Amino acid sequence: MNTIERIKKHQSIRKYKNLPIPKKIINEILETAQYASTSGNMQSYSVIVTSDQEIKKKLFVPHMEQSMTLEAPLFWTFCADFNRIKKWMLLSETTFNYDNFMAFMIGAIDAILFSQNVSLAAEEKGLGVCYMGSTLANAHLIAPILKLPKNVIPVCGFAMGYPDENPESRDRLPIEGIVHWDVYNDYSDEDIQRIYRQKNEMFEKRFLKNKSLTKQIEEKSVKNTAQVYSILKYTQEAYKKYSKQLLNLIDGKDFFNN
Ligand SMILES: Cc1cc2nc3c(=O)[nH]c(=O)nc-3n(C[C@H](O)[C@H](O)[C@H](O)COP(=O)(O)O)c2cc1C
Repeated sequence: MNTIERIKKHQSIRKYKNLPIPKKIINEILETAQYASTSGNMQSYSVIVTSDQEIKKKLFVPHMEQSMTLEAPLFWTFCADFNRIKKWMLLSETTFNYDNFMAFMIGAIDAILFSQNVSLAAEEKGLGVCYMGSTLANAHLIAPILKLPKNVIPVCGFAMGYPDENPESRDRLPIEGIVHWDVYNDYSDEDIQRIYRQKNEMFEKRFLKNKSLTKQIEEKSVKNTAQVYSILKYTQEAYKKYSKQLLNLIDGKDFFNN
């Protein structure tokens, strides 16, 4: 399969075979993924690869009790990391300039680019991953479990294992919905209806058929896909709470000093 075919074949995998991933394969994935672009070639990220079942049990609650945390042989937590660079700078008798929000963003971008390369390399090796938003939402609970020092913040993470399911490919927006040629061309109501047509159809095709959602859909009188997102899945209260937690963590890890 070539790269284009491989990328298009992606599907998040949430069920895994009870098979370990050989260390040789993990190392090959890591070595390959390192070729991701990285700001200033500083690689201001690191990754915690967790296979220890006891540590995965501790991660289960902050990962919102999603079964993948326990059932996948590996959990990967990608972090913006200026701890290592700080030590190097100080040992090299120079100033450390990266205790600010800009540095956090650079580290986060580096970490996320690296993570996507890990995902692609893993898929090439017949593995599957499922990113978990709980990594960022509950980063303040995950950081102490993984013993993260100052200047290190988890930004994304995924479970990884050999697939034990073959889910249907999920929809994507039509290309015209995500691209603007030359300058931003703001959307009319008609554009939005056209771009989100397939997502809107998901309400009957997918969400009304999902047993765990139908009760909530009835209780909260949810009428369409957008309401599934805003009223059931990603609420304003939850997003406000996660934002506060994350800002406090970024501050506590010394990324708001100057
Ligand atoms: C940052 C991020 C967080 C995600 N969090 C979760 C999650 O917590 N649980 C889950 O089951 N899937 C999670 N996903 C997977 C998405 O639901 C999935 O990528 C999306 O529905 C598209 O499906 P596909 O990856 O199979 O194409 C996450 C994906 C990303 C990129």
